[in-house]
Amino acid sequence: MKNIKILEKYKKKIELLKKFNKQYYDSNKPSVSDSEYDELKKEILSLETKYKFLKSKDSPSKLVGYKPSKNFKKDYHRVPMLSLANAFSEDDLVNFEKKILNFLSKDKNYKISYSAEPKIDGISASLTYKDGYFERGLSRGDGKEGEDITANLATIKDIPKKILDKDFPKDIDIRGEVFIQNSDFENLKEKFANPRNAASGSLRQKNSEDTKKIPLNFIAYTFGFENNLKQKKQSEYLKKLDEWGFKTNPLNKTISGVKNLIQNYNEVEQQRANLDFDIDGIVYKVNDFELQKRLGHIANAPRWAIAHKFSSNKAISKILDIDIQIGRTGALTPVAKIKPINIGGVLVSNATLHNEDEINRKDIRIGDTVTVERAGDVIPHILSVDIKKRPNSSSKFIFPNKCPSCGSKTVKEFNKVTKKTDAVRRCSSEGYFCNKISIEKLKHFVSKEAFNIDGLGKKIIEGFWKLKLLKFPQDIFKLDYKKIERLEGWGSLSVENLKYSINQKKTISLEKFIFSLGIRHIGLENAKLLSKHFISFSNFKNLSKAKSYNDLLNIDGIGETQVGSIKNFFANDLNLKILSELGKILEIKNAVVNQTNGLLKNKSFLVTGKLDGVSRAEIKSLIEENAGITVSSVSNKLNYLIVGDKPTKRKLDSAKELKIKIINQDEFLKMLNKTS
Ligand code: IVH
Repeated sequence: MKNIKILEKYKKKIELLKKFNKQYYDSNKPSVSDSEYDELKKEILSLETKYKFLKSKDSPSKLVGYKPSKNFKKDYHRVPMLSLANAFSEDDLVNFEKKILNFLSKDKNYKISYSAEPKIDGISASLTYKDGYFERGLSRGDGKEGEDITANLATIKDIPKKILDKDFPKDIDIRGEVFIQNSDFENLKEKFANPRNAASGSLRQKNSEDTKKIPLNFIAYTFGFENNLKQKKQSEYLKKLDEWGFKTNPLNKTISGVKNLIQNYNEVEQQRANLDFDIDGIVYKVNDFELQKRLGHIANAPRWAIAHKFSSNKAISKILDIDIQIGRTGALTPVAKIKPINIGGVLVSNATLHNEDEINRKDIRIGDTVTVERAGDVIPHILSVDIKKRPNSSSKFIFPNKCPSCGSKTVKEFNKVTKKTDAVRRCSSEGYFCNKISIEKLKHFVSKEAFNIDGLGKKIIEGFWKLKLLKFPQDIFKLDYKKIERLEGWGSLSVENLKYSINQKKTISLEKFIFSLGIRHIGLENAKLLSKHFISFSNFKNLSKAKSYNDLLNIDGIGETQVGSIKNFFANDLNLKILSELGKILEIKNAVVNQTNGLLKNKSFLVTGKLDGVSRAEIKSLIEENAGITVSSVSNKLNYLIVGDKPTKRKLDSAKELKIKIINQDEFLKMLNKTS
């Protein structure tokens, strides 16, 4: 890559990091998870290591956190608030100790004693005490300069306002972590992604009366400036903190030897779900202050301490209950309600158990201690059960044989094609008879790939349903807007917006319409095939009068399973009523038969990465409307690779290798004589 391109890429990443920092620190509304944020930081640092000419004052190598927000007066820390380097494995710890021994010129048998302290995931604060009185409290800010949040900190009951102990230094900055307990976070869940954001938000209230309403806690673990501190070791200092009236972490320990550090790490990780505060690792500090002083720090982190982080996608927790959720197709999905645990910055309290067979296979029970994995945006799931921790009183989980919503029998279907019984158990009722299925059907109806109604998301559908504002799809187009306007959280403007977006969607293509009905086994692709076959809504609707559905088997791609499902759909009078009602309200456009002539004739396309303002589905239909073809992988059959934001590297590389034309969104739109 040319230097200019590298610089551009670097600058883009720095700008993105600045944006995330601002969201996080100024408005407490992060748009990415902690692990995505860490990933971005890592990418920037590795670019800087590789290309020495890359420099920025906003680089994470220069910054600790983010500049203080404008809401508070700023002040300098008398001693900077440093950050910690991270360790993720035993090797990282071995290296950490090796470097210390080298620096101190000690041989490898020298025993270093560490203070091992669970790392609370909260917001750090520095409290200045003069003559025993709490005088001033600063947030970390950028490490050098913090915000003066004295008034807010003073509302925290764990922060002593006056310390008269004769041992307490005359002038000292006590440092520690402000946090919210998980149980208290339950009431703040709607507003914040995790307890840490909630703590940060509460600490940044302009009015300390608002901070007071939120139960903040404080745990002390270090100091900044000090005058005449008598203790010589971190463990002694922690003990003293206790005596002076501060809370310290009950799980703090003094340990030596990497093997013992690992053992303690594993033990604490096991206990994590039982703690009422979030920890994201263990901090190890060389216990002896004299050695700490000699070791000093590199850039913004001390040589004498490291944070051993827990895996960002796995955690151990306990199953509190097993809930049965009912999907649009009646499938009963068991969900484990677990003791909330922070996995990669997201507080996880649910994990899917997939289906009845999965529960039986893994013999998952209420009360079990389990390892939960959360990878990317996928729903967290249970990796394994720790049988040793199973309570004696536990009993096998019995899957319900009646639908928990409507009481209908639950059944496991026999799949004629695979000749196997389904792993999934379903509610045997007919669609809209079961309340839970109805709600899910409505959510599907308005979803992105279907009617895609802006401002009518899942939560709103649920709310409207509970208020009996809608029951069937046609009700969406006959909403009582006067009633909605009177609901909490709604006003005339938001109602106008909703009305506008609903009215806009009254015109729809036949394929999207068919898809939106949520007929089982009829996804986007099959809906498209059916729409091409029927061409018009009335032809489709008249299927109810057909003597046989076997004709449909002639459609390439439609098989017996789909035909059976369509037959069931049309055999239901309620479905027919819905079809006819919707037919009266909507303008359902005829299908466009394959364009044989168009601007993209005989050209094939593949999209990689995120496009700006257009969905994949829309690009696909644009291509097809113009006689082009979309393919699903890079091969020599591909003519153009359309590249968006964060493309798949593998696709890009193979396209380059095969000398396939690589274009961006604008270039693609230009081929259609359009601009974005
Ligand atoms: S010591 C130079 N001790 O972790 C030492 N920090 O990434 C820096 N933290 O900003 C702090 N528990 O917010 C220390 N027992 C502990 C800690 C701890 C949590 C946080 C703190 C700090 C961050 C470092």
